[in-house]
Amino acid sequence: MAENKMEKLTALFKRRGFVYPGSEIYGGLANTYDYGPVGTELLRNIRNLWWKEFVIRRDDIVGLEASIISHRKVWEASGHTVGFSDAFVDCKNCKVRIRADQLIEDYLEKNADTLEKIDVTELILPEGLSFEDVIRYIQQKKVEGFSEAQLDSIIKLHAIPCPNCGAVNWTPVRRFNLLFPIKLGIVEGEQSLAYLRGETAQGMFINFENIVNSTRVKLPFGIAQLGKSFRNEITLGNSIFRTIEFDQAEIEYFFHPKKENWEEIFDSWKKLMWEFITERLGVNKENLRWREHSDKERSFYSKKTVDLEYKYPFGFKELWGIAYRTDYDLKQHAAASKHELSIVDPETNEKIIPHVIEPALGINRLFLTLLCDAYFEEKDRIVLRLHPRIAPIKVAVFPLLKNRKDLVEKAREVYQILKKSIDGKILWDDRGNIGKRYLSQDEIGTPWCVTIDFDTLVDNTVTVRDRDTTNQERIAIQDLANYFSNKLL
Ligand code: GAP
Repeated sequence: MAENKMEKLTALFKRRGFVYPGSEIYGGLANTYDYGPVGTELLRNIRNLWWKEFVIRRDDIVGLEASIISHRKVWEASGHTVGFSDAFVDCKNCKVRIRADQLIEDYLEKNADTLEKIDVTELILPEGLSFEDVIRYIQQKKVEGFSEAQLDSIIKLHAIPCPNCGAVNWTPVRRFNLLFPIKLGIVEGEQSLAYLRGETAQGMFINFENIVNSTRVKLPFGIAQLGKSFRNEITLGNSIFRTIEFDQAEIEYFFHPKKENWEEIFDSWKKLMWEFITERLGVNKENLRWREHSDKERSFYSKKTVDLEYKYPFGFKELWGIAYRTDYDLKQHAAASKHELSIVDPETNEKIIPHVIEPALGINRLFLTLLCDAYFEEKDRIVLRLHPRIAPIKVAVFPLLKNRKDLVEKAREVYQILKKSIDGKILWDDRGNIGKRYLSQDEIGTPWCVTIDFDTLVDNTVTVRDRDTTNQERIAIQDLANYFSNKLL
């Protein structure tokens, strides 16, 4: 059923213009996707809401839009050219290439019952794995941070079959870097090498000095950025969950390491993340959980990392991460660039290298999360119960009959009023009958449909139909704008 849900969602994405496979008319390009008209609106609404919440409405956070193409030295200093890699295996039988951690974790997830029965005390330890390693991956079903040799051992121990062809015939696990190198200009060699950014975060560290010098920020303060990142990922299905090009929304929240308690800042950000997802976006709390990274799993730059995970149809996976990056990045860039990346404490005149807490969200992954959470099949309809704040279309306007000039004219009037007064897309539909129009809007998550009928011509009221309850009420045309605007705050 769960995997079935993913198939149904993917079909809906294409059928209704949320997401299409990338470069489809040329046979497709793996791990790339294009967003259709409805998906584009949803994506924009998510981006705008995040920006409003974490930049516009806050006095202590400033925005940044750094270049996607960046100097190779940025990524050398940050450690990404060496430390930012994935381990993968190839199936010798069907040639499919899969991330080793993904292969193992999917297997462990699907075989959870069998694993519980394994008597670990009896187990002959596979090469390279300690008793604790075995306990950890069996209990947590996670292998992030395991070495190539350890991953090899686990694949062999369980004789994990290829999900594509069923063979158990793998190459050894190998590692490759996720950054996309690019060549600038026509000159070959080191000088022309640059990278597409692998995370938005680095733009904020390398502009730290610029921001301190050009604004009036004082600690604690954050720099926020929302934009594309690129990773040469290998993925196997699951739609847009993991792609090679995706939007990240990240905040680097800088603070005085001696005057502020990092654990308190960390916890207050966790609270804000939770509220954003559950209250502002209405995601079901039962489908969410926090998971802290073990020492082995944590990225090279982090002292503590916790993931907010969502229960996708293919299991609990990371939606939003929060990490305590200490002063690692500023120190790395200061050393490599010979710029002093510090800020003066106005009370002591001391130069401080701030520490940083980083909430890092993937906008496309949030898009998928919201759609998984909103998708419901009812007796006679499919409905997306998206929060009205981010619904792609806010209101659909229908004349009861397409061939009645008086109804169409009145409906056009209402349509124009709503287009001018509502912050979001309003849609006109006069095809088919009202019932079909409702079903069509339910499938793309439109919270309200407004019908202009014969009573409207007499008393200037319209029928407003609610997507979730399917209840209908009569509202005066003059009250409509306020009625919807209040619900969209
Ligand atoms: N600056 C820290 C950082 O980039 P990350 O956990 O690698 O941390 C942050 O990425 C978020 O970006 C993830 O929680 C996820 O939502 C999203 N993300 C990462 N890789 C992605 C990919 N290949 N496709 C889609 N979203 C991705």
